Amino acid sequence: MTGILRAELITTDRFTLEPLGVHHAAEMTKVLAGTAIYKYIGGQAPTAQELANRYAAQSVGSSRDGRQIWLNWIIREQGRSIGFVQATVEADGPTSDVAWVVGEAFQGRGAATEAAHAMVTWLRHQQPRIRITASIHPENTASSSVARHLGLTPTGDLDADGEEFWDDSPPTGA
Ligand SMILES: CC(C)(COP(=O)(O)OP(=O)(O)OC[C@H]1O[C@@H](n2cnc3c(N)ncnc32)[C@H](O)[C@@H]1OP(=O)(O)O)[C@@H](O)C(=O)NCCC(=O)NCCS
Repeated sequence: MTGILRAELITTDRFTLEPLGVHHAAEMTKVLAGTAIYKYIGGQAPTAQELANRYAAQSVGSSRDGRQIWLNWIIREQGRSIGFVQATVEADGPTSDVAWVVGEAFQGRGAATEAAHAMVTWLRHQQPRIRITASIHPENTASSSVARHLGLTPTGDLDADGEEFWDDSPPTGA
């Protein structure tokens, strides 16, 4: 079933989530500039060429072996790009690891929450039994708030990068 999953246009009250394409790279280079975005997720601002290469690879939509489906959307507000949301779906789960990034200039206005909520709603509509997961640095309070708004809870398990694993299973003891 997941083999045919493809990102589709999603609209929210304020935003349009456009399936990612190479044509987004030039504008997104400016959105992803600076250093603050990378405080908890690591890495650094990509050049326009690096981003075009990344978007060309991501917009293929799946890993070569078909085990992962790559779904990426650019968050657009009034015709401009402000960030992105992404879902990596494990075809044999099905589980989807989700993530969100909003450009520094556009943060603090509920954009990540609204866009991520729309993405997760879309995913659950496509695959009602899908499990939603996320990996979040324990000090990344903004991202933790987004995850909480989606109904995810921290599991206490850390990965090798020190990020905590969140999922949408009911908290133990609940
Ligand atoms: C995490 C991120 C996407 C949030 O984007 P955003 O559009 O500002 O998020 P929202 O406006 O939807 O706010 C979400 C919550 O974070 C809180 N928040 C926003 N900026 C914050 C900050 N700098 N410090 C603490 N909390 C913050 C908001 O108050 C809100 O919480 P609330 O709804 O409980 O009040 C953005 O900060 C970002 O891109 N960070 C860098 C990349 C990153 O860490 N991505 C997450 C990878 S898991």
